[in-house]
Amino acid sequence: MERKPIMGFNTWNVFGENINEELIMQTADALISTGLADAGYKYVIIDDCWSLRERDENGNIVADPKKFPHGMRYLADYIHSKGLKFGMYSCVGDKTCAGYPGSCDHEFQDAKLFNEFGIDYLKYDYCYIPGFVKGKGRIRKMGLALARENPDIVFAACTWGSDDTKSWISETYAKTWRSTGDIWDNWKGTRHCIRQQLEMGLINYLGCFNDMDMLTVGQGGVGNVGKGGSTFEEYKTLMSFYALCGSPLIMGSDVRSMSKEYIDMLSNKELIALNQDTTTAKPFSLSDAENPIGAYAIAKFLANGEIAVGLFNLTDHEVEITPTISDTGIEYETKVTYTDVWTKESFEVIADKFTAKVKAHECKLYVVKF
Ligand code: GLA
Repeated sequence: MERKPIMGFNTWNVFGENINEELIMQTADALISTGLADAGYKYVIIDDCWSLRERDENGNIVADPKKFPHGMRYLADYIHSKGLKFGMYSCVGDKTCAGYPGSCDHEFQDAKLFNEFGIDYLKYDYCYIPGFVKGKGRIRKMGLALARENPDIVFAACTWGSDDTKSWISETYAKTWRSTGDIWDNWKGTRHCIRQQLEMGLINYLGCFNDMDMLTVGQGGVGNVGKGGSTFEEYKTLMSFYALCGSPLIMGSDVRSMSKEYIDMLSNKELIALNQDTTTAKPFSLSDAENPIGAYAIAKFLANGEIAVGLFNLTDHEVEITPTISDTGIEYETKVTYTDVWTKESFEVIADKFTAKVKAHECKLYVVKF
């Protein structure tokens, strides 16, 4: 059973409803040839729009034969033969967000079918919940249905943080939960995603991770949620925030045509190690009396006794951020070593006496030891 943030690829950000067998197989091949699979990106997840609009006479959801002529088991077998994992999608409501059949009142039947398909992961969306049904109960129900079929299936609730998800998600079988609304690929989308997570609190703990939606890193403004795209540094800011906050790293970009600079960004070993750190501690904000509005200093205890610190500038101008590192328990006059996770440069400072200049939309990510 997975105990770390899931890493993989999902079809929605670029391809939306334009999905098919060939695309999925090519993506699986690209995960291997780019080295992204070796870096940890193992889950190939088909999002919404994979089925016909109606269930069959036995009440089963049917894979669209035009998009998936050999059926889902065939795809699962192909993906597994590459050493990868296979993810699919359904919804709490009687319809999915795009209007295909959802699992409401078919939870046990669908869980059986999905297990027969050979899935390792189910993303479970939150649209079209009938008025008389409680979303929380339905998340519990599908989690239970899947766990009975196959406890190794990762159940990924996609509730966008709504209905106060954070207060009840640990009462379900969910291993990840969507904490933010849908991302879009430009600076506003990135900032909105980060702000939503900050406003809700950095809720995250071992075994159930807050999923901030698919990473737009390298998307370049193309496809379903491509709205102008982001700069290299803006993608770095998003990647750093996901790493620090332990969000699942689910790529939304087309990995078949991704440029080397983004393959390198997504495969960065230090970033991934931070994301996958097994500590049980949640990230937390360092006090911000000294810091300008829109600038954030966030820390996270790591399993080895070191501390990750991220300085994020969501404003449109350069700011100076002073992380109050003593909030972690380090004494004021202690000499500490900061190592920049991206550049790998190290320097020594006295705790609380360090101020970083951070350019607009950019961030600094450090590991601190003393
Ligand atoms: C919702 C989810 C998205 C995607 C779409 C599919 O909006 O939040 O991630 O799955 O539905 O319709």
